[in-house]
This record gives sequence, structure tokens and C-alpha cells, in this order.
Amino acid sequence: MAVREIITPANAALRQRARKVRSITPEVQTLIDDMIETMRAAPGVGLAAPQIAVGQRVIVIEYADPPEDPEAPAPPARLYALVNPEIVRRSPETVVANEACLSVPGYFGEVERAQTVSVRALDRKGQAVRIKAEGWLARIFQHEIDHLDGVLYTDRATRMWRVEDAQGEQVPPAD
Ligand code: NI
Repeated sequence: MAVREIITPANAALRQRARKVRSITPEVQTLIDDMIETMRAAPGVGLAAPQIAVGQRVIVIEYADPPEDPEAPAPPARLYALVNPEIVRRSPETVVANEACLSVPGYFGEVERAQTVSVRALDRKGQAVRIKAEGWLARIFQHEIDHLDGVLYTDRATRMWRVEDAQGEQVPPAD
């Protein structure tokens, strides 16, 4: 496994639409392992292959909702490694919240996203999976799947801040 370099908008590969994975080869398994290691090293809550300049439709996510009781221990984070993910349903209800991106360091911004999404994908064994995500997890899925189409949250943000000027705004985890 290896930590790969996370690219920024200075590299045009970030803006290209990624190709569907036709077969989950040993190279794709290595890609997934490297993406997990890169996401954890960043650290971030998600990573899409175009962020390491690989134009394939692969995402990884590792996130746990904070416990409702702040005194309670944090629940274990769930790890998702998904191939060819697609949003097949999004709720009409939306949520506006701050989000940040590992490819756009130093900034965060306010983005409106669907509150709930259903995602269809293959897991790393090639099994079809369907995931219903809500709240922050739904936001992360929308952010990562946007990356596969060359879309950044900055394209959708209605307000942006520099982290150093955050003041009272809470700086969100990046992905
Ligand atoms: Ni991102």
C-alpha cells in the first residue's frame, strides 16, 4: 500500500469525467488500498480516484456520525470502498451545511445537498450493493460521486471561507 499524492485544481485530471471500471482487477484492489491509506493519512472522511489523478469510478468513505450524547464513546466508523457508484434516488428535502475538500486545501463552503440518497454500486468483491445514506454520510456520497464527474463542491457552494478566516464558522471534515 502507498499514500498517493492528492491533486488540486492546478492538475486538469481533477476535472475529467472518470471511466467506469469494467473489471475489478488486482490493480483496482491496489488502487482501493492506496485510496484508503491516502484518505486516512490526509486525514479525510472520503476520497475519489480522480483526486489522486486516476480516472476510474472508485470512491472510499470512512465516517461515523458523532454520538448524540457528547459524553458517549464515538461509534466505530464505517468504511465503504465502492466501484461505479451511482445515486439512484435523492430526497427532495435538502440540507445546507459547510463542506471542505482535500483537493481544495485551506477553504470550506456552504453547499445545499439532498438530505437522503440511495447509492447503487459494486463493493470491492464485485457484489452489487445498495446503500441508503442520510445526513452527513449522504453529503459525503454526493461530494465523492461529484468528483467522479469532475465536479467540485466549489462549483456548488453559495458561500466560501478561508479556514484562517473561519471565525465562528465550524470547519468541516474534508473529503
Ligand atoms: Ni473532495
